Amino acid sequence: MPHLLGLQGMPPDRLRSLLARARDLIPHAERARPPLDTRRGASVVNLFFEDSTRTRLSFTLAARRLGADVADLTAAGSSASKGETLLDTALTVRALGASGIVLRHAMSGAAIAAARALDALPGPPCAILNAGDGRHEHPTQGILDALTIAEAHARLPDFNLGGLRIAILGDVANSRVARSDIAALTALGASVVCVGPPGLCPPSLRSLGCDTSHDLDAVLPDVDAVQSLRIQMERSPALASVRDYAAGYQLDLARSARMKPGAVVLHPGPMNRGVEITGDVADGPRSRILRQVTLGVAVRMACLAECLAR
Ligand code: NCD
Repeated sequence: MPHLLGLQGMPPDRLRSLLARARDLIPHAERARPPLDTRRGASVVNLFFEDSTRTRLSFTLAARRLGADVADLTAAGSSASKGETLLDTALTVRALGASGIVLRHAMSGAAIAAARALDALPGPPCAILNAGDGRHEHPTQGILDALTIAEAHARLPDFNLGGLRIAILGDVANSRVARSDIAALTALGASVVCVGPPGLCPPSLRSLGCDTSHDLDAVLPDVDAVQSLRIQMERSPALASVRDYAAGYQLDLARSARMKPGAVVLHPGPMNRGVEITGDVADGPRSRILRQVTLGVAVRMACLAECLAR
């Protein structure tokens, strides 16, 4: 029973096969083709212990477009408030008949721990799909960002991102999206540079296989895509001054104008317009931000189709 826990260390064949499946499902995600029923009878449970708009809705819509049914549990209404552990909750949800659990949790490693708990005790097949665990990983986001960049640069046939340089900008230290992006993009042959102030973009990130820089204006003319990240105030409320941050690192129209022709702007959302990115860039011609959202449905269809037992 495959789980989807992270992209670090994922065999490249599996990553490419998920991307290829997602590419082929784009017309279904766009509703240009009707829903499928290839996972009819499967039950997906969304277990979200942190807030979400895009990820939760897109897993829900993706599951429905495969014919599966979906139930939702959020921290607020769950027995977590009565002291039930995450692992007991996961075992309970499997015993209720779930064939897949989409899990978001504030603790790094939560998805791995839940998968181990399920695998350690006998029970019907039930996959854990990590929808974001603390600062660790957000694998479906990493795959959809790679798919968006591949589409923008005409690399959909083989997902070879060789020759492309991609900047990940902002609060990289606290970002699970950045860790999954670095794993996916470097595995596909791109070079990645993380850019931000020293506190949010420490040189230790290089152990993930990327470069780091504190000088956005030096980096921008050379990159083919910028993934702008939200400052994770809930994880590290350390930002001294939004004004100082914006002066050095906000992606605004003047900076966007200095990017290469054809270079694109991404953001995983939720955006804080006027902090890490300005509205005119977010809505401008380089922006692929809403395309990321649409492709996210195709990616989650691909991941659910792979993980849900038939
Ligand atoms: C991100 C997350 O929750 O990790 N959002 C998302 O899933 N698209 C990024 C964020 O919260 O800033």
